[in-house]
Amino acid sequence: MAASQDNPTTTTAITEGMRRQFHRDGFLVVPNALETEDVEILRREADCLINYLISENINIMTDYGGIIEPITCGYIDPPVSQMFILSKKSYSHVRDQVPEEPDSVLHILFEKVPAMVNNFLPLESEDDPTCLFNEQYIVKTPDSADISSFEWHQDSQYMDTSAQEAFPVVSCWIALDNVNLKNGTLLVEPFPRPKDATTGNYIDPPTQFQERDTYIRYHKHLASHYVNPPSNKMTAIMKAQHRPSLQPPPPSPSAVGAGSTTGTLPNDPKEWVCESQPPVLVEVPAGSIVFLSGWVRHCSLGNSSSKFRRAFMPQYSAGKVITSTGGMVSLAVPCNEYDEREREWVDPRGRMQSQEDELIDDGDGFGRTDDLEFGDDVEMED
Ligand SMILES: [Fe+2]
Repeated sequence: MAASQDNPTTTTAITEGMRRQFHRDGFLVVPNALETEDVEILRREADCLINYLISENINIMTDYGGIIEPITCGYIDPPVSQMFILSKKSYSHVRDQVPEEPDSVLHILFEKVPAMVNNFLPLESEDDPTCLFNEQYIVKTPDSADISSFEWHQDSQYMDTSAQEAFPVVSCWIALDNVNLKNGTLLVEPFPRPKDATTGNYIDPPTQFQERDTYIRYHKHLASHYVNPPSNKMTAIMKAQHRPSLQPPPPSPSAVGAGSTTGTLPNDPKEWVCESQPPVLVEVPAGSIVFLSGWVRHCSLGNSSSKFRRAFMPQYSAGKVITSTGGMVSLAVPCNEYDEREREWVDPRGRMQSQEDELIDDGDGFGRTDDLEFGDDVEMED
Protein backbone atom coordinates (compact mmCIF):
# COMPACT_ATOMS: atom_id res chain seq x y z
CA MET A 1 0.00 0.00 0.00
CA ALA A 2 1.01 3.50 -0.34
CA ALA A 3 4.28 4.84 0.66
CA SER A 4 4.48 7.91 2.78
CA GLN A 5 4.80 10.97 0.64
CA ASP A 6 5.69 14.45 1.69
CA ASN A 7 3.04 17.04 1.37
CA PRO A 8 3.43 20.63 2.50
CA THR A 9 1.13 21.67 5.29
CA THR A 10 -0.35 24.56 3.41
CA THR A 11 -3.80 25.22 2.11
CA THR A 12 -4.10 27.00 -1.17
CA ALA A 13 -6.19 30.14 -1.35
CA ILE A 14 -8.34 30.37 -4.44
CA THR A 15 -7.69 33.60 -6.29
CA GLU A 16 -9.82 35.47 -8.78
CA GLY A 17 -7.46 34.36 -11.54
CA MET A 18 -7.93 30.71 -10.59
CA ARG A 19 -11.71 31.11 -10.67
CA ARG A 20 -11.50 32.62 -14.13
CA GLN A 21 -9.19 29.82 -15.22
CA PHE A 22 -11.70 27.22 -14.01
CA HIS A 23 -14.49 28.71 -16.10
CA ARG A 24 -12.19 29.14 -19.09
CA ASP A 25 -10.81 25.58 -19.09
CA GLY A 26 -13.59 23.72 -17.29
CA PHE A 27 -11.15 22.50 -14.69
CA LEU A 28 -8.41 23.64 -12.36
CA VAL A 29 -5.54 21.75 -10.76
CA VAL A 30 -4.59 22.98 -7.29
CA PRO A 31 -1.39 21.31 -6.07
CA ASN A 32 -1.03 20.45 -2.39
CA ALA A 33 -4.51 21.75 -1.67
CA LEU A 34 -4.98 19.60 1.42
CA GLU A 35 -2.79 19.44 4.46
CA THR A 36 -0.71 16.34 5.15
CA GLU A 37 -2.85 15.41 8.12
CA ASP A 38 -6.03 15.38 6.03
CA VAL A 39 -4.41 13.34 3.28
CA GLU A 40 -3.41 10.79 5.91
CA ILE A 41 -6.97 10.62 7.24
CA LEU A 42 -8.30 9.90 3.75
CA ARG A 43 -5.58 7.35 3.06
CA ARG A 44 -6.35 5.48 6.27
CA GLU A 45 -10.03 5.36 5.42
CA ALA A 46 -9.32 4.24 1.86
CA ASP A 47 -7.03 1.48 3.15
CA CYS A 48 -9.63 0.42 5.69
CA LEU A 49 -12.25 0.00 2.96
CA ILE A 50 -9.83 -1.65 0.54
CA ASN A 51 -8.77 -4.15 3.18
CA TYR A 52 -12.40 -4.85 4.05
CA LEU A 53 -13.29 -5.60 0.42
CA ILE A 54 -10.24 -7.82 0.01
CA SER A 55 -11.20 -9.71 3.17
CA GLU A 56 -14.64 -10.29 1.64
CA ASN A 57 -13.06 -11.68 -1.55
CA ILE A 58 -14.40 -8.78 -3.57
CA ASN A 59 -12.29 -7.87 -6.59
CA ILE A 60 -12.10 -4.09 -6.47
CA MET A 61 -11.53 -3.73 -10.21
CA THR A 62 -13.75 -6.40 -11.73
CA ASP A 63 -16.53 -6.37 -9.12
CA TYR A 64 -16.59 -2.68 -8.19
CA GLY A 65 -14.97 -1.03 -11.21
CA GLY A 66 -12.47 0.58 -8.87
CA ILE A 67 -15.21 2.60 -7.17
CA ILE A 68 -15.66 2.36 -3.41
CA GLU A 69 -18.55 4.32 -1.93
CA PRO A 70 -18.05 4.56 1.83
CA ILE A 71 -21.70 4.19 2.84
CA THR A 72 -22.86 1.64 0.27
CA CYS A 73 -19.78 -0.55 -0.28
CA GLY A 74 -20.88 -2.98 2.42
CA TYR A 75 -18.55 -1.88 5.19
CA ILE A 76 -21.50 -0.64 7.26
CA ASP A 77 -25.05 -1.90 7.33
CA PRO A 78 -27.45 0.02 5.06
CA PRO A 79 -28.90 3.02 6.92
CA VAL A 80 -32.39 2.42 8.28
CA SER A 81 -33.58 5.96 7.59
CA GLN A 82 -33.27 7.81 4.31
CA MET A 83 -32.71 11.13 6.05
CA PHE A 84 -28.97 10.96 5.43
CA ILE A 85 -29.64 11.86 1.80
CA LEU A 86 -30.92 15.30 2.78
CA SER A 87 -29.56 16.20 6.17
CA LYS A 88 -26.01 16.99 7.19
CA LYS A 89 -26.64 15.78 10.73
CA SER A 90 -28.08 12.48 9.57
CA TYR A 91 -25.39 12.05 6.95
CA SER A 92 -22.67 12.79 9.49
CA HIS A 93 -24.13 10.23 11.88
CA VAL A 94 -24.08 7.53 9.20
CA ARG A 95 -20.75 8.58 7.76
CA ASP A 96 -19.05 8.54 11.14
CA GLN A 97 -19.58 4.78 11.30
CA VAL A 98 -17.17 4.18 8.44
CA PRO A 99 -13.72 4.97 9.84
CA GLU A 100 -12.32 2.77 12.56
CA GLU A 101 -10.52 5.57 14.28
CA PRO A 102 -11.47 8.88 15.84
CA ASP A 103 -10.26 11.03 12.98
CA SER A 104 -13.21 11.81 10.80
CA VAL A 105 -13.42 12.89 7.21
CA LEU A 106 -16.38 15.14 8.00
CA HIS A 107 -14.37 18.32 8.32
CA ILE A 108 -12.84 17.60 4.92
CA LEU A 109 -16.20 16.81 3.32
CA PHE A 110 -18.21 19.65 4.78
CA GLU A 111 -15.67 22.38 5.49
CA LYS A 112 -12.31 22.23 3.77
CA VAL A 113 -13.25 21.10 0.29
CA PRO A 114 -16.49 23.14 0.14
CA ALA A 115 -14.51 26.26 1.11
CA MET A 116 -12.57 25.77 -2.12
CA VAL A 117 -15.27 24.39 -4.41
CA ASN A 118 -17.63 27.25 -3.57
CA ASN A 119 -15.31 29.39 -5.67
CA PHE A 120 -16.28 27.36 -8.73
CA LEU A 121 -20.04 27.09 -8.23
CA PRO A 122 -22.70 29.79 -8.64
CA LEU A 123 -23.15 32.07 -5.66
CA GLU A 124 -24.55 30.09 -2.75
CA SER A 125 -27.89 31.04 -1.26
CA GLU A 126 -30.32 29.57 1.23
CA ASP A 127 -32.46 28.40 -1.69
CA ASP A 128 -29.49 26.95 -3.54
CA PRO A 129 -27.05 25.73 -0.90
CA THR A 130 -23.84 23.98 -1.84
CA CYS A 131 -24.61 20.29 -1.36
CA LEU A 132 -22.57 17.14 -1.15
CA PHE A 133 -23.83 15.27 -4.21
CA ASN A 134 -21.74 12.12 -4.14
CA GLU A 135 -18.48 10.78 -2.74
CA GLN A 136 -16.32 7.85 -3.65
CA TYR A 137 -12.82 6.49 -3.47
CA ILE A 138 -11.42 5.61 -6.87
CA VAL A 139 -8.83 2.89 -6.62
CA LYS A 140 -6.64 1.36 -9.29
CA THR A 141 -5.03 -1.83 -8.06
CA PRO A 142 -1.35 -2.59 -8.81
CA ASP A 143 -0.45 -3.79 -12.31
CA SER A 144 -4.00 -3.33 -13.57
CA ALA A 145 -3.29 -1.24 -16.65
CA ASP A 146 -5.37 -3.47 -18.90
CA ILE A 147 -8.55 -3.00 -16.84
CA SER A 148 -8.15 0.25 -14.91
CA SER A 149 -8.22 2.93 -17.59
CA PHE A 150 -11.43 4.83 -18.30
CA GLU A 151 -12.61 6.33 -21.51
CA TRP A 152 -13.33 9.96 -22.34
CA HIS A 153 -16.46 11.24 -20.67
CA GLN A 154 -18.10 14.22 -19.00
CA ASP A 155 -19.37 13.66 -15.47
CA SER A 156 -22.66 15.40 -16.28
CA GLN A 157 -23.52 12.64 -18.75
CA TYR A 158 -24.16 10.31 -15.81
CA MET A 159 -26.94 12.55 -14.52
CA ASP A 160 -30.60 12.65 -15.43
CA THR A 161 -30.97 15.01 -18.42
CA SER A 162 -33.26 17.50 -16.69
CA ALA A 163 -30.95 17.60 -13.68
CA GLN A 164 -27.80 18.11 -15.75
CA GLU A 165 -29.47 21.09 -17.46
CA ALA A 166 -30.37 22.70 -14.14
CA PHE A 167 -27.74 21.95 -11.51
CA PRO A 168 -24.01 22.66 -11.82
CA VAL A 169 -21.92 19.88 -10.27
CA VAL A 170 -18.18 20.11 -9.64
CA SER A 171 -16.12 16.97 -9.04
CA CYS A 172 -13.18 17.34 -6.66
CA TRP A 173 -10.67 14.65 -7.61
CA ILE A 174 -8.19 14.42 -4.75
CA ALA A 175 -4.96 12.52 -5.37
CA LEU A 176 -4.07 10.39 -2.34
CA ASP A 177 -0.88 9.17 -3.99
CA ASN A 178 1.54 11.02 -6.21
CA VAL A 179 -0.02 10.53 -9.63
CA ASN A 180 1.74 10.28 -12.95
CA LEU A 181 1.68 8.74 -16.38
CA LYS A 182 2.55 5.30 -15.00
CA ASN A 183 0.06 4.85 -12.18
CA GLY A 184 -3.12 6.02 -13.79
CA THR A 185 -3.69 9.74 -13.64
CA LEU A 186 -6.19 12.01 -15.38
CA LEU A 187 -6.02 13.36 -18.88
CA VAL A 188 -8.24 16.42 -19.20
CA GLU A 189 -9.24 18.25 -22.36
CA PRO A 190 -9.84 21.92 -21.57
CA PHE A 191 -12.92 23.61 -22.92
CA PRO A 192 -12.40 24.97 -26.43
CA ARG A 193 -11.43 28.61 -26.01
CA PRO A 194 -13.86 31.21 -27.36
CA LYS A 195 -12.88 34.05 -29.64
CA ASP A 196 -14.82 37.04 -30.78
CA ALA A 197 -15.86 36.22 -34.33
CA THR A 198 -15.28 39.77 -35.49
CA THR A 199 -12.05 40.78 -33.79
CA GLY A 200 -10.51 37.34 -33.26
CA ASN A 201 -9.70 38.29 -29.67
CA TYR A 202 -9.97 35.67 -26.97
CA ILE A 203 -12.94 36.10 -24.69
CA ASP A 204 -12.26 35.46 -21.04
CA PRO A 205 -14.98 34.12 -18.79
CA PRO A 206 -16.45 35.73 -15.70
CA THR A 207 -14.85 34.96 -12.37
CA GLN A 208 -18.15 33.82 -10.92
CA PHE A 209 -21.70 33.16 -12.03
CA GLN A 210 -24.58 34.30 -9.90
CA GLU A 211 -27.23 32.05 -11.41
CA ARG A 212 -27.32 28.34 -12.09
CA ASP A 213 -28.81 28.68 -15.55
CA THR A 214 -26.19 31.17 -16.75
CA TYR A 215 -23.44 28.93 -15.43
CA ILE A 216 -24.83 25.86 -17.16
CA ARG A 217 -25.41 27.74 -20.41
CA TYR A 218 -21.81 28.97 -20.45
CA HIS A 219 -20.15 25.64 -19.63
CA LYS A 220 -22.46 23.63 -21.86
CA HIS A 221 -21.90 25.95 -24.78
CA LEU A 222 -18.11 25.72 -24.57
CA ALA A 223 -18.35 21.93 -24.29
CA SER A 224 -20.56 21.82 -27.37
CA HIS A 225 -17.51 22.94 -29.37
CA TYR A 226 -15.51 19.81 -28.51
CA VAL A 227 -14.56 17.73 -31.51
CA ASN A 228 -14.11 13.98 -31.18
CA PRO A 229 -11.23 13.09 -28.87
CA PRO A 230 -8.33 10.99 -30.17
CA SER A 231 -9.42 7.36 -30.12
CA ASN A 232 -5.88 6.41 -29.18
CA LYS A 233 -4.98 7.78 -25.78
CA MET A 234 -1.27 7.67 -26.58
CA THR A 235 -1.92 10.22 -29.31
CA ALA A 236 -3.59 12.45 -26.75
CA ILE A 237 -0.75 11.93 -24.30
CA MET A 238 1.76 12.89 -26.96
CA LYS A 239 -0.10 16.14 -27.44
CA ALA A 240 -0.66 16.73 -23.77
CA GLN A 241 0.79 19.48 -21.71
CA HIS A 242 1.97 18.55 -18.27
CA ARG A 243 0.35 20.69 -15.70
CA PRO A 244 1.26 21.38 -12.49
CA SER A 245 2.38 24.74 -13.41
CA LEU A 246 -0.56 25.97 -11.75
CA GLN A 247 -0.09 29.61 -11.62
CA PRO A 248 -3.05 30.73 -13.66
CA PRO A 249 -1.98 32.75 -16.66
CA PRO A 250 -3.19 36.31 -16.73
CA PRO A 251 -6.07 37.06 -19.06
CA SER A 252 -4.89 37.77 -22.56
CA PRO A 253 -4.47 41.53 -22.98
CA SER A 254 -7.14 41.65 -25.61
CA ALA A 255 -9.58 40.03 -23.26
CA VAL A 256 -9.02 42.11 -20.15
CA GLY A 257 -12.33 43.56 -19.14
CA ALA A 258 -14.24 41.43 -21.59
CA GLY A 259 -15.46 39.07 -18.92
CA SER A 260 -17.85 40.20 -16.28
CA THR A 261 -17.50 39.39 -12.61
CA THR A 262 -21.24 39.18 -12.23
CA GLY A 263 -22.03 36.19 -14.36
CA THR A 264 -23.42 38.11 -17.31
CA LEU A 265 -22.33 36.58 -20.58
CA PRO A 266 -20.10 39.06 -22.38
CA ASN A 267 -21.46 38.17 -25.80
CA ASP A 268 -23.96 35.85 -27.33
CA PRO A 269 -22.15 32.48 -27.12
CA LYS A 270 -23.68 31.41 -30.41
CA GLU A 271 -21.50 33.96 -32.14
CA TRP A 272 -18.27 32.69 -30.65
CA VAL A 273 -15.66 30.84 -32.62
CA CYS A 274 -13.96 28.28 -30.38
CA GLU A 275 -10.42 26.99 -30.63
CA SER A 276 -9.52 23.49 -29.42
CA GLN A 277 -6.96 23.22 -26.62
CA PRO A 278 -4.45 20.37 -26.18
CA PRO A 279 -5.18 17.89 -23.41
CA VAL A 280 -3.52 18.25 -20.04
CA LEU A 281 -1.80 15.37 -18.28
CA VAL A 282 -2.25 15.78 -14.55
CA GLU A 283 0.96 14.85 -12.76
CA VAL A 284 0.72 16.15 -9.22
CA PRO A 285 1.70 15.21 -5.66
CA ALA A 286 -0.67 13.59 -3.18
CA GLY A 287 -3.03 16.10 -1.61
CA SER A 288 -3.57 17.97 -4.86
CA ILE A 289 -7.12 18.52 -6.08
CA VAL A 290 -8.42 18.64 -9.64
CA PHE A 291 -11.69 20.58 -9.73
CA LEU A 292 -13.72 19.41 -12.74
CA SER A 293 -16.81 20.99 -14.23
CA GLY A 294 -19.50 18.45 -15.02
CA TRP A 295 -19.07 19.46 -18.66
CA VAL A 296 -15.30 19.12 -19.08
CA ARG A 297 -14.11 16.08 -20.98
CA HIS A 298 -11.56 13.79 -19.34
CA CYS A 299 -10.39 10.20 -19.09
CA SER A 300 -7.97 8.29 -16.92
CA LEU A 301 -5.06 6.01 -17.64
CA GLY A 302 -4.39 2.48 -16.41
CA ASN A 303 -2.16 1.70 -13.46
CA SER A 304 0.96 -0.10 -14.64
CA SER A 305 2.87 0.53 -11.43
CA SER A 306 3.36 -2.03 -8.67
CA LYS A 307 1.42 0.03 -6.10
CA PHE A 308 -2.18 1.02 -5.49
CA ARG A 309 -3.26 4.36 -6.89
CA ARG A 310 -5.84 5.94 -4.63
CA ALA A 311 -8.01 8.99 -5.18
CA PHE A 312 -10.96 10.41 -3.29
CA MET A 313 -13.65 12.28 -5.20
CA PRO A 314 -16.45 14.15 -3.48
CA GLN A 315 -18.79 16.03 -5.79
CA TYR A 316 -20.73 19.15 -4.93
CA SER A 317 -23.81 20.68 -6.50
CA ALA A 318 -25.33 24.14 -6.51
CA GLY A 319 -28.67 23.37 -4.89
CA LYS A 320 -30.33 20.06 -4.15
CA VAL A 321 -30.29 18.11 -7.40
CA ILE A 322 -33.73 16.84 -8.33
CA THR A 323 -35.19 15.55 -11.57
CA SER A 324 -38.03 17.20 -13.46
CA THR A 325 -40.38 14.79 -11.69
CA GLY A 326 -39.06 15.77 -8.28
CA GLY A 327 -37.01 12.65 -7.62
CA MET A 328 -33.60 12.59 -6.04
CA VAL A 329 -30.64 11.88 -8.30
CA SER A 330 -28.11 11.16 -5.57
CA LEU A 331 -27.20 12.86 -2.32
CA ALA A 332 -28.43 16.37 -1.55
CA VAL A 333 -26.71 17.13 1.74
CA PRO A 334 -26.27 20.88 2.35
CA CYS A 335 -22.76 21.62 3.56
CA ASN A 336 -24.06 24.52 5.61
CA GLU A 337 -27.37 23.87 7.22
CA TYR A 338 -28.99 26.96 8.51
CA ASP A 339 -29.38 26.85 12.28
CA GLU A 340 -33.13 27.19 12.43
CA ARG A 341 -33.77 24.64 9.74
CA GLU A 342 -31.28 22.28 11.32
CA ARG A 343 -33.21 22.29 14.57
CA GLU A 344 -36.40 21.52 12.70
CA TRP A 345 -34.79 18.72 10.74
CA VAL A 346 -33.55 16.92 13.81
CA ASP A 347 -36.94 16.96 15.58
CA PRO A 348 -38.25 13.45 14.90
CA ARG A 349 -41.87 14.50 15.35
CA GLY A 350 -41.65 17.71 13.41
CA ARG A 351 -39.90 18.84 10.28
CA MET A 352 -38.02 15.57 9.88
CA GLN A 353 -41.27 13.82 9.06
CA SER A 354 -42.15 16.31 6.37
CA GLN A 355 -38.64 15.99 4.93
CA GLU A 356 -39.00 12.24 4.78
CA ASP A 357 -42.16 12.73 2.78
CA GLU A 358 -39.92 13.90 -0.04
CA LEU A 359 -38.55 10.39 -0.33
CA ILE A 360 -40.06 7.01 -0.83
CA ASP A 361 -38.37 4.49 1.40
CA ASP A 362 -38.13 1.38 -0.72
CA GLY A 363 -35.70 -0.23 1.64
CA ASP A 364 -32.70 -0.03 -0.63
CA GLY A 365 -31.05 2.47 1.64
CA PHE A 366 -30.84 5.13 -1.01
CA GLY A 367 -34.21 6.70 -1.60
CA ARG A 368 -36.47 6.32 -4.56
CA THR A 369 -35.01 3.85 -7.00
CA ASP A 370 -37.14 4.87 -9.95
CA ASP A 371 -35.65 8.33 -9.80
CA LEU A 372 -32.11 7.36 -8.89
CA GLU A 373 -30.73 7.90 -12.32
CA PHE A 374 -27.21 7.09 -11.17
CA GLY A 375 -27.66 3.50 -10.08
CA ASP A 376 -24.59 1.72 -11.35
CA ASP A 377 -23.78 4.73 -13.50
CA VAL A 378 -23.02 6.83 -10.46
CA GLU A 379 -19.51 5.51 -10.77
CA MET A 380 -17.50 8.29 -12.34
CA GLU A 381 -14.55 6.07 -12.99
CA ASP A 382 -11.46 8.19 -12.80
FE1 LIG B 1 -15.12 11.51 -14.50
